[in-house]
Amino acid sequence: MNDAMTLSERAEALEAQKIRELDEAIIVKSRLFMLADADFSFPNGAALQAQKPGARMLMGDDPRLPKMPDKPTLVDFFKLRFGPAQHLLQSAKHALDAGLSEKMILACLLHDIGVIGFIRSDHGYWGAQMVEPYVDPEVTWAIRAHQALRFYADETAGYPYPETYVKYFGADYRPDPYIEAEYQRARKHKWYMSARMITVHDIYSFDPNVVVSLDQFIDIIGRNFRQPVEGLGFDDSPSAHMWRTLNRPTKYL
Ligand SMILES: [Fe+2]
Ligand SMILES: [Fe+2]
Repeated sequence: MNDAMTLSERAEALEAQKIRELDEAIIVKSRLFMLADADFSFPNGAALQAQKPGARMLMGDDPRLPKMPDKPTLVDFFKLRFGPAQHLLQSAKHALDAGLSEKMILACLLHDIGVIGFIRSDHGYWGAQMVEPYVDPEVTWAIRAHQALRFYADETAGYPYPETYVKYFGADYRPDPYIEAEYQRARKHKWYMSARMITVHDIYSFDPNVVVSLDQFIDIIGRNFRQPVEGLGFDDSPSAHMWRTLNRPTKYL
């Protein structure tokens, strides 16, 4: 890009380039995204191309989304994919104020990245899998187990059954049997209290007036999250593909 360009000219050029890319790309939704609308149609690549001659299937960055750096970090995902993420930040702040260990503050900061960045259903399992190669095993275990523990009170640990759950799911809601079994296993586990602490510091009543910044957690992330030098998603870890998919959710194949 020409150095003589002003900032606004540069922004305009970038916008024009985005529109060009959008014109030349065919963006197809994955089945999972379609199922969320109970839509069973399966787009036919050849038919789509016939409707848009000269266009190609999108095989990289989606021009409609904020561009991620070539070597994205966890912080980049927080900023460019997880949205404001206030639920996570407020929960981590709660844990910080309660004097929990850095490991547990990180667990609270990451506990719902399944929901906030990926898939709601079974979010504790997805979230744990995403972070497993990069954090202490206790953090992974706690994130996975919070999926079940959140449905069971432990008053002595400071966790009553959330009022919001009665509102959301009804007073007669009973968790699925696999969640009940997970809970029974977790109760006997040596790291039970770590997972329980996630539920204790989980912010169930979201306060829109409290804005917690990610800045105060940068050092804790630096010390407790093994950021791969190749960038999150390009590091050949067992969950790298999940981060890549989050980076480029509409890559055709
Ligand atoms: Fe959760
Ligand atoms: Fe949560």
